[in-house]
Order: sequence, then C-alpha cells, then structure tokens
Amino acid sequence: MASAVERFDDKARQTFDRFGRTETYQGELLRHPVYTRFLHWMVALFFFLALFSGFGIYLPWLFRWFTPVFGGGPLARAMHPWFGLGFVVFFALQMLNWLNPMKWTQADTKWMRNIKSVISSQDELEPPDTGFFNGGQKVQFWEIVAGCVVYLVTGIILWAGARTFGRWPVAISYVLHDISALIMLGGIFIHIYLSTIGEPGTFQAMTRGAVSEAWAWTFHPAWYKEVTGRDPRQACEEARRRGEFAER
Ligand code: HEM
Repeated sequence: MASAVERFDDKARQTFDRFGRTETYQGELLRHPVYTRFLHWMVALFFFLALFSGFGIYLPWLFRWFTPVFGGGPLARAMHPWFGLGFVVFFALQMLNWLNPMKWTQADTKWMRNIKSVISSQDELEPPDTGFFNGGQKVQFWEIVAGCVVYLVTGIILWAGARTFGRWPVAISYVLHDISALIMLGGIFIHIYLSTIGEPGTFQAMTRGAVSEAWAWTFHPAWYKEVTGRDPRQACEEARRRGEFAER
C-alpha cells in the first residue's frame, strides 16, 4: 500500500503534469517530471536569494554592493530569513519527492569507496550498478538535508535574537549557520559544474525533463537497464559501431 508521502507526491506530480509538458523524442528517456523540475528551480532560486542577501549581512565590507538589489542593507537583513525559509520549505518537498531514488544502497558505498578510480577511469561508462542517482549525488543530497536542519534551528535562534535565547546560543548559531552555508556553497559549485559542462547532456534533465539514452547508459547504467531492459554496455557498443556515440 502506498504511504501518505507517496500519495501526496503522486497527487502533486499529476497536478503539475496538467500545467506543463515533458516531451521525450526517439532515443530519449524521461528523467524528471514537471513537479520535480518546478521544485528544483524554486530550491535554486531561494538558495541564491538567501545566499546573496546573506553575503551582505555576513561580510558587509566586502559584499555591500549586493544589498541594493534587495532595497538596501536593512531590507536585505529583513528578507534573508524569509528567503531561507522558502529554501528550506521547497527543499523539504524535494526531499519527499526524491526519498526513494535517494535511498542509500550497497552500490553507493562501493561508488564512494572507488571514487578516485571512478573519476580517473578511462572507461566512458560509470560502474554498471550506478542507478538513478550515484553515490556522490546522494551524499550531496543528504548533506543539503542536514544543512537545512542546521539553517532552520540556528536561523530561528538568530531571528529571535539574544533577548529570547541568550548570548551563547546566538553566538554558536552564527558559527554553525555560516559553516553550513560555506559547505553547501562549495558543494553547489561542484554541482553546477557537473550538471552543465562537466557531464554534457545533464542540464536538459532539469529543463526539458528528458535525457538521451546515451547519457543514461553512460552516467547511470543500472537505471538505463531498469527502464529499457537493455544491457548498457551492449547498447553503447552498438551505437559506437553505428558511429553514434558522440551524440551523448
Ligand atoms: C544554476 C544552478 C543549478 C543548476 C544548473 C542545476 C542543475 C541540475 C541538474 C541538471 C540536475 C539533474 C541531475 C540528474 O538528473 O542527474 C540537478 C539535480 C539536483 N540539484 Fe541542481 N542545479 C542548480 C542549483 C541547485 C541548487 C542551488 C541546489 C540546492 C541547494 C540543487 C540541488 C540539486 C539536487 C539535490 C539534485 C539531485 C542530485 C544531483 O543531481 O546532484 N541544485 N541540478
């Protein structure tokens, strides 16, 4: 029987599919439906709004020039907690949406253990048991979940201030809030690189919602096998014989 989360998520997917479309052409696979894409871009929007308004508060002498975008320093300060809240709420929905594909498996442990050889490998294909998301993507996802909890707890303490919570909790919250932001920012740089130029063909997964079969068998062979029933390496070899591999 479907859980309450699955029922909520299914309903949201159906509702959003009525507003937007996902076209998959021949040789393509559906990767992310409209609801997932909507959530992802809302997460990204609120992340950057919170980041840029936060920079003006964190290091005003360096990032003062960001604050006019938000109507000045005091307004940036007033809006930052709301942007942060928007980020946490949309990411919480994204978490429910991706709860299943983000479950940790033995293949992910193996992927993480062999991360050096995965990155430096001459083989064009990822390890054959790499599913819908790989171990690295899952680590980043759960890091963002943990980061959201830290933001929420420390953010509320900072918002209410020392009069409500006392000086020490506020001082500690400042440190944890900023460390969490810096860790997440570092991860997001890597994420943006890999989603665009690092792994060509990935960006369209979050714009059109579809990816080429060549992308699927290259980066997520086990997922390719699951949805097509075909062997990824064999599909790759056949495409190479037809001279199509460059199409990734
Ligand atoms: C302009 C900035 C961004 C771009 C171009 C981008 C692009 C993408 C793309 C193409 C995917 C799909 C990957 C796949 O299907 O395998 C994805 C997934 C994802 N995005 Fe983003 N994204 C951006 C910003 C963000 C931000 C700010 C966050 C959160 C703070 C975020 C969190 C995620 C997560 C957790 C996933 C799923 C796992 C993964 O692929 O790493 N993204 N993104």
